[in-house]
Amino acid sequence: MARRTVVFSFLGVTLDRGHAAKRWKRWRPNPGLVSQPDLPIDRVELLHPPESTLLADQIVADIAELSPRTTVVCRPIPLPDAWDFEAVYGALHDLARSYPFDVDAEDYLVHITTGTHVIQICLFLLVEARELPGRLIQTEPSRGREATVAGQHRIIDLDLSRYAAIAERFATVREQGTSFLKEGIETRNAAYNQLIDQIEQVAVRSDMPLLLMGPTGAGKTRLARRIYDLKKARRRLKGEFVEVNCATLRGDSAMGALFGHTRGAFTGAVKDRPGLLRTADQGLLFLDEIGELGLDEQAMLLRALESGRFLPVGADHEVHSQFQLIAGTNRDLRQAALDGAFRSDLLARIDTWTWSLPALKDRPEDIEPNLDFELDRVGRAAGRRLRFHQEARARFLRFAMGPDATWDRNFRDLGAAVQRMGTLAPGDRIDEPTVLAEMQRLQAAWAPAGPPVDDRDALLIAILGESAAAELDRFDAVQLAEVLRVCRQSQAR
Ligand SMILES: Nc1ncnc2c1ncn2[C@@H]1O[C@H](COP(=O)(O)OP(=O)(O)OP(=O)(O)O)[C@@H](O)[C@H]1O
Ligand SMILES: [Mg+2]
Repeated sequence: MARRTVVFSFLGVTLDRGHAAKRWKRWRPNPGLVSQPDLPIDRVELLHPPESTLLADQIVADIAELSPRTTVVCRPIPLPDAWDFEAVYGALHDLARSYPFDVDAEDYLVHITTGTHVIQICLFLLVEARELPGRLIQTEPSRGREATVAGQHRIIDLDLSRYAAIAERFATVREQGTSFLKEGIETRNAAYNQLIDQIEQVAVRSDMPLLLMGPTGAGKTRLARRIYDLKKARRRLKGEFVEVNCATLRGDSAMGALFGHTRGAFTGAVKDRPGLLRTADQGLLFLDEIGELGLDEQAMLLRALESGRFLPVGADHEVHSQFQLIAGTNRDLRQAALDGAFRSDLLARIDTWTWSLPALKDRPEDIEPNLDFELDRVGRAAGRRLRFHQEARARFLRFAMGPDATWDRNFRDLGAAVQRMGTLAPGDRIDEPTVLAEMQRLQAAWAPAGPPVDDRDALLIAILGESAAAELDRFDAVQLAEVLRVCRQSQAR
């Protein structure tokens, strides 16, 4: 059984008019609709103001003549004011809700040429929202010299994935968003790239809280800032980027800092203070180290997130603030919730979107692009064009991507290493001695804090490694440990 084509179309109270014979010599939208040689129409749902029944009947007769195969169902639809967006949308939404669509057997078209512009906009919105499960059809007079009743038509499918050029455009916009979040650094780590891809999608489509986890220096704060800039660029935010490290919020002032306070609310409250939540209104609040937030502050924050309302310290009336929240932590909040140090209801509120930024050592393939980015950044800040000698570069990368490079403080270490090598490099070129010295510095910084000097065996194992220490004969072990202990002591001084 062939699928039927059904069109929803408003009567053109002006364009469809015409009684005389010459009405067949000019384009009329609804008669034209059923006269498209390549688009047979089975049924027209003709929507019309009740007061235009006469014209509607005329059109039914004309359509019967032009396309006997087409049935027309007249649907009077009272629209006291066809320019009143709310009323028009309501009436058409009711129609869509009550209509017995049969999408298995019928294809639906929605004619957006007749009716007021408000009607046309509402039809478009209902099609886009799939309330009217169909495609749009637009008709117009033919462009040829000779005017015809038929005119011509164009079908518009709002499923944008069908349009290669538009899909490509969206892909480009997404790539730009992702690249923006990565500051243009061409990272290679698949897990990291996927993570940033997802953050991009969520950042431009949702205002739900985001939770960034990850070790210190992994880039949570920096990423939060980029997300803010991206959201602002996409006009999802218009307020400020407000950042606070919750580990610095202590005692009475913690509440005041976050939620504001009135003058005299507590000793030292010499004047009213809006507080960070209100300062972030219409903007973004980045709560770094959220795991350090006190339980009272957590309770207030939860209320503010749920209702957008909270009570400044010392105030009688609640205030309102709407902000995008990003929380950062290098703690395991789930464990903290189990331990009672973090409210599980607040965690549930902020962890809808949770991402763990990997440590630098877990994405060694990204060290090179980040190194070049840092080199460029440090160089530009110093007004120099910093580069490596080829062998020096290879030497540093071998070390930096190797198993010994633990990058304990992640980008802080990388940034500091580039800063130091850039500063110490003869001229603008980082040479091998500079690299070797930097490798030693980093290894010293990453060396596990040594065990207590009188712990002989541990000292030997720490320096020589388990197997070598085990091979030492007892006498040599004591001797060597003593030498090491003395060396260490002198180093410590
Ligand atoms: N992708 C990156 N490339 C280069 N440098 C970076 C990158 N991400 C962060 N940095 C730099 O590394 C340092 C640490 O980054 P950031 O403060 O964002 O880390 P964090 O994860 O918030 O750390 P913490 O847990 O200590 O708050 C900053 O100086 C930042 O500018
Ligand atoms: Mg941070």
